[in-house]
Amino acid sequence: MRRPTPRFTATVSTTGLRTVPFNRPHVAENELDYIAEVVRSGRTSGDGAFTRRATGLLSELTGANDVVLTTSCTHALEMSAILLDLQPGDEVIVPSFTFMSTANAFALRGAVPVFVDCRPDTLNIDERLIEGAVTERTRAIAVVHYAGVACAMEVIGELAERYGLALVEDNAHGLGGSYQGRPLGSFGAMAAQSFHETKNVQCGEGGALILNDPALMARAEIIREKGTDRSRYFRGQVDKYRWVDIGSSYLPSDLLAAQLAAQLEFFRVTQLRRHAVWQAYHEGLADWAAGNGISQPMVPDGCAHPAHLYYLLFPDIANRQAFIDHLAGRGVQALFHYQPLHCAPAGLRYGRPATGGCPVTEQVADTLVRLPLFADLAEDDVAHVIEAARDYEVS
Ligand SMILES: Cc1ncc(COP(=O)(O)O)c(C=O)c1O
Repeated sequence: MRRPTPRFTATVSTTGLRTVPFNRPHVAENELDYIAEVVRSGRTSGDGAFTRRATGLLSELTGANDVVLTTSCTHALEMSAILLDLQPGDEVIVPSFTFMSTANAFALRGAVPVFVDCRPDTLNIDERLIEGAVTERTRAIAVVHYAGVACAMEVIGELAERYGLALVEDNAHGLGGSYQGRPLGSFGAMAAQSFHETKNVQCGEGGALILNDPALMARAEIIREKGTDRSRYFRGQVDKYRWVDIGSSYLPSDLLAAQLAAQLEFFRVTQLRRHAVWQAYHEGLADWAAGNGISQPMVPDGCAHPAHLYYLLFPDIANRQAFIDHLAGRGVQALFHYQPLHCAPAGLRYGRPATGGCPVTEQVADTLVRLPLFADLAEDDVAHVIEAARDYEVS
């Protein structure tokens, strides 16, 4: 029997103060039943029936033939770095304004992340600065579609082709987004997805690697299975499995795949709800933002974003912090993220900024605030966040 999908109502604490958390993962229809099914089946390791189901659903969403589930986006990026056969001293162009995994995955192979600044409007890697960062050691460009708004893929794709560089999409934010009608995750030779609890589709910790180059799939299966040909063994293609390459344990349990399958089947509903919250913020804060010198997200023509996150850019760090404190006083949890990688301790040790540095990234990192956004955010909580925000005046 199908259980009704749990919906959360507005949260009012015992003190009477409404509290709005930054994130609360929603529970998809069938999610608990699917997980129970795996537990009862007595087979909880990876590559079971729900792994196949979730993988098929991801293929449909991204249009990719070859997809492998992984234990995180971080691990999917690490797999991409192994698949690229990066050697110590090779360089990979990455944005500075991103999560550390985008650079760390390549640094782990001994490659040097070369940090490029972001555009002030979309906060994506500034495509105009990429060519200047290319050297004879450059092997790849890794892009992040920030907030699920596409990077300038025609320019970046053309550059990659001209210089013979591999293109990797860190598509942690972008599932369900598209550019010129083409799904994000379908532009690079590989794309990494995240199913961390803060993402639109989540299983606590999880990820996937999308392989758009058919030549990569056979090796990807091996890398993901501790460097063995166990996948071929399970398909009856070899009579024993052996250690054939380097790899690691990047294969998630079928328990996580069950949660993921339910979440993916529920994706359309999730997205309707997330877009409603995003749009309410965008419209409800527009005049207040303009009157206070605060920037709202910019979505260029041709980009369909998946309402992954909603951010505001304040004029300076003092107002950013005062705004976060002001919202906290109203029970609303707002956060900032991404400290520039080019000047992080490991960024300085393992990478280097491209010529000209990353001044926009530094400014954005100091001034960005993210508002609560999740599928079960109740309408009156959204209204409360908007009202609380509008009560703040930039000084
Ligand atoms: C752009 C980006 N890449 C990679 C990751 C890492 O994802 P995961 O936690 O699935 O490893 C994140 C996490 O938020 C992210 O924002």
